[in-house]
Amino acid sequence: MKVELIPATQGEHHLHNYEEIAAAFDWAEVEKEFSWYETGKVNMAHEAIDRHAESDRKNKVALYYKDQNRHESYTFYEMKRMTNRAANLLKAHSELEKGDRMFIFMPRSPELYFAMFGALKMGLIVGPLFEAFMEGAIYDRLDDSDAKAIITTPELLPRIPHDRLPNLKTIFLVGENIEEDGKFVDFTKHLNGSSDQFDIEWLDKEDGLVLHYTSGSTGKPKGVLHAQYAMVQQYQTAKWVLDLQEQDIYWCTADPGWVTGTAYGVFAPWLTGTTTVILGGRFSPEGWYKAIEDFGVTVWYSAPTAFRMLMGAGDALVKEFDLSTLRHVLSVGEPLNPEVVRWGVQVFDKRIHDTWWMTETGAQTICNYPSMAIKPGSMGKPVPGIKVAIVDDQGKELPPNQMGNLAIEKGWPSMMRQIWNNPSKYESYFLNDQWYVSGDSAYMDEEGYFWFQGRVDDVIMTSGERVGPFEVESKLLEHPAVAEAGVIGKPDPVRGEIIKAFVALNEGYEPSDELIQDIQQFVKKGLAAHAAPKEIEFKDKLPKTRSGKIMRRVLKAWELDLPTGDLSTMED
Ligand code: PRX
Repeated sequence: MKVELIPATQGEHHLHNYEEIAAAFDWAEVEKEFSWYETGKVNMAHEAIDRHAESDRKNKVALYYKDQNRHESYTFYEMKRMTNRAANLLKAHSELEKGDRMFIFMPRSPELYFAMFGALKMGLIVGPLFEAFMEGAIYDRLDDSDAKAIITTPELLPRIPHDRLPNLKTIFLVGENIEEDGKFVDFTKHLNGSSDQFDIEWLDKEDGLVLHYTSGSTGKPKGVLHAQYAMVQQYQTAKWVLDLQEQDIYWCTADPGWVTGTAYGVFAPWLTGTTTVILGGRFSPEGWYKAIEDFGVTVWYSAPTAFRMLMGAGDALVKEFDLSTLRHVLSVGEPLNPEVVRWGVQVFDKRIHDTWWMTETGAQTICNYPSMAIKPGSMGKPVPGIKVAIVDDQGKELPPNQMGNLAIEKGWPSMMRQIWNNPSKYESYFLNDQWYVSGDSAYMDEEGYFWFQGRVDDVIMTSGERVGPFEVESKLLEHPAVAEAGVIGKPDPVRGEIIKAFVALNEGYEPSDELIQDIQQFVKKGLAAHAAPKEIEFKDKLPKTRSGKIMRRVLKAWELDLPTGDLSTMED
């Protein structure tokens, strides 16, 4: 078979020669880029904001923010002042202390980032939440992490069940005419009145940074804790993978509720002192192309679902905008179809660089680099200094072209440090104390390129969002009509996968379109819109193991007309 190859991009790149750099690379060298290398005092907010504010980058724009109503920009110096104010405010109006968890649950806005970095300046661990989350999803996360505070808006407040969360002592509100008492604090009002001087809380490099909840195939979502030290890999990949240069205008389209929106929405670009665009509001092809034109975006990081939607909007639309500033385009979150890569070359005259990583890896892990040829459909090669391999279930490395578990050798800089409250779950990720097993299956070709094959478990990737079937099934079971539920990802040309639920009904309920809608609404309200099944099919009975576990593999085989495989564990 002839392998399609898109040649390397010409020009000066930080990673000028992959093989040479990968052959001898030591992460300890990167530590020297940070002020804590000399001082021993660590704080992400200092490295990402304050140190630029105290340098030649003082008056350089750090943040361009735009939504329907607002169009603002902040220099690094202004970001330093605003985040200092936020830190003073958080401190003055709460009992929060270093290491406490503060959650962020609000639409994108400059205030979100003031609060996030203000909290980091106080030494808090930040827990970002998707704006789409509903009460059940919020309760689980705040309860598990024993959150002490949250920042939100009056519109979203009704979704926070604070009466059931006794340790949630403070709720900061961004909005107008907030009625304050000991618990509710008007963030907007106090922000302007707070001092813009703040003594940052110095931390150890192993202290907590962010807590991202993510889904597995079983159990509730788990809290993946990253340490301050993650900045080492985030910084270096900002150079090697994002290829950020001093003059770049960088736009990452990811929501901050997702690890991409923190690690590469703000940390990586700001660690390198890069101007960053944040676009609020909803996706629209016109709005997105316009943002590239208006801001003169040079480096653009998005996701396959978005690229496929842009593709669907037609090539003629692309020509209505001046996208000539684009220099480097990247993708993450799901398999990037070769067709999309070809489309990128055709319409933008740019290669779309696939990157693979996970919430648990904390930063990019397998990537395509500007100086390396792209094989469309491949995730690329491991970030230098990180060992990735395909291993069997015993942890033995497999030779090229054999499919197996995609695994990473323990100890890369941005590796998660804990599963919150669940040390045994954390341990369960590691095989022979050597390999972190990702849950993805893949193979490596003779030239060292990695090819994604699928998830080993049942986790669903819909529009780039990771949804655990168990969480959706549990919610479905709370609906009075539902007796049994099994949830799978069904392949979809635009969204990667959509959520499909198989449901057996309780006595007295009959299948109907109204019932389907009612169940969909129920999940939407209880969990999140993106977690609601797009398709529901009623069955008299679902395939189960003798121990009562729903056999999703069988459901999937039914759906895709595939052989059902071994049914020996299925109940009669
Ligand atoms: O299955 C892989 C898929 O997304 C999973 C991780 O999801 P999450 O923790 O939400 O993080 C997403 C972005 C950091 C992986 O186990 N995935 C991510 N990137 C790719 C991918 N699948 C194929 N190709 C990718 N480039």
